[in-house]
Amino acid sequence: MSARKPVTTAKLRKMKEDGVPITVVTAYDYPSAMLAELAEVDAILVGDSLANVVLGYESTVPVTIDDMVHHTKAVTRAARASFVIADMPFNTYHGSIDATLRNASRLMQEGLAKAVKMEGGAEIVPAVEACVRAGIPVMAHIGLTPQSIHQIGGYKVQGKSSDQAVKLMEDAKALEAAGAFSIVLELVTEQLAAQMTRALSIPTIGIGAGAGCSGQVLVFHDLLGYAAKPQPKRFVKEYARIGEQILQGLKQYVKEVKDGSFPGPEHSFKMDDDVAEYLYGSSGKPQA
Ligand code: KIV
Repeated sequence: MSARKPVTTAKLRKMKEDGVPITVVTAYDYPSAMLAELAEVDAILVGDSLANVVLGYESTVPVTIDDMVHHTKAVTRAARASFVIADMPFNTYHGSIDATLRNASRLMQEGLAKAVKMEGGAEIVPAVEACVRAGIPVMAHIGLTPQSIHQIGGYKVQGKSSDQAVKLMEDAKALEAAGAFSIVLELVTEQLAAQMTRALSIPTIGIGAGAGCSGQVLVFHDLLGYAAKPQPKRFVKEYARIGEQILQGLKQYVKEVKDGSFPGPEHSFKMDDDVAEYLYGSSGKPQA
């Protein structure tokens, strides 16, 4: 297992100060988190993209806090040094502060996450402040916020107009003032993302937000091409095509079972010949 020192919120901030890029990848289960840990990513996000990439939903809206706790537990069993952040799912931080704290606490106490992530701007400041007061580190997430996809009306780049850019900058500053330790910028124009990175002292983590952020996050399945039919996205670089490899492997397995070439003698176990002879006779078949 890794000999790295565990990453903390303070370390992430120091990385920004020192100009060291921060690496974040999503993971949803033990093997993917173990691979991310071995690759020495700085932070693992148990994203509610779980919905689309693992659970087969069309948006992140249906994911529940129980789903998130379940998958966060699996991830934190593998993560040692990588800092684990778990997403607060749809509508679990917009009600009472009590309910928000209860939901965030579940991700930390049951899931063993080190921090939670919330989507939204100035409107979620009370939730962020309450969590930070309670000792729950919060990563904010602005720009394209997939939980509001039905309101936004599609996966569109944010911050193109001056009004939008000004509003996003105000949101980012309000979230920093509320105590967020970092902020995800999703599908934000690169000029705005770079400007925010300069204006804030907390690290910005971009996804489709250009190279001017303090770090980058990508969805595990996107960067590894882990789908039967990967759907290319402009802001994603595919570093592998594991979906294709898995499909070939599965097809070969089906073929070999059907044609009798698997399992071979090297995959099977034998009892001693005298025991077989006693039980089944020389034919090797059971005695009547
Ligand atoms: O759920 C997720 O994977 C995310 C990333 C896209 C930042 O929120």
